[in-house]
Amino acid sequence: MSVELKTPEDIAGMRIAGRLASEVLDFIGPQVQAGITTGELDRLCHDYIVNVQRTIPAPLNYTPPGYTPYPKSICTSVNHVVCHGVPGEKRLKNGDIINIDITVIKDGYHGDTSRMFYVGAPSIQAKRLVELTYDCMWRGIRAIKPGNTLGDIGHAIQSHAERHGFSVVREFCGHGIGKKFHEDPQILHYGRPGAGMRLEPGMVFTVEPMINAGRPDIRQMADGWTIVTKDHSLSAQWEHTVLVTPDGFEVLTVSAGTPPEPATE
Ligand code: MF3
Ligand code: CO
Ligand code: CO
Repeated sequence: MSVELKTPEDIAGMRIAGRLASEVLDFIGPQVQAGITTGELDRLCHDYIVNVQRTIPAPLNYTPPGYTPYPKSICTSVNHVVCHGVPGEKRLKNGDIINIDITVIKDGYHGDTSRMFYVGAPSIQAKRLVELTYDCMWRGIRAIKPGNTLGDIGHAIQSHAERHGFSVVREFCGHGIGKKFHEDPQILHYGRPGAGMRLEPGMVFTVEPMINAGRPDIRQMADGWTIVTKDHSLSAQWEHTVLVTPDGFEVLTVSAGTPPEPATE
């Protein structure tokens, strides 16, 4: 596996792309309300990305090996949808939870980030899952520093999720990112301390755990993209793009509306 170390020029470009991706979430957050459809959220984001930011929505027509071209500009994953929910006619209702995942390309560089949103008031269980998943992402990010390994990141996430009775989706992972959407290495959200590749300054990758309230098993829908929990339990996900620095990490997908880092216990 060859992992590209970013140059100072690359890093400057990735900071800009990361901020822009995060600003799309700032823009769309207030529109996430009961009555709107996921297709309408996609249209609003698409127009903002293309006409206001003058960036490129990376998902649109993205075609990994074995897939059909992705038909929309964002992913909208509601309730038991784990990831890659395709925007359409689905209308949001009070109590839903939704992940919105944004990837934009600016001057050739990708920024990739997602957040969870509540539609109206969440159930106690949904709020617990969403907050726990956010803590899991941050525990993974805080494990990032030169000399630590990919297994340290995965272990930090998995141990926290399972300690609270939730489960980690295994089939999808974080990824290196830069001039390409998905690069090496794969960032598994489970693992053993000290296992796997050692982190080096200049690596840029995403941390994007998918945590299920029930069993970890998933199923792909007939559209070829949408992933759901097999047991229909709720699923949550958060994502940041992160740079490995000489003494730790720098989150690149930050903007005015980025939620605060959780307190360390
Ligand atoms: N943004 C997703 C990720 O975090 C990838 C979505 S691929 C798409 O890696 F084609 F569905 F957009
Ligand atoms: Co990603
Ligand atoms: Co993403």
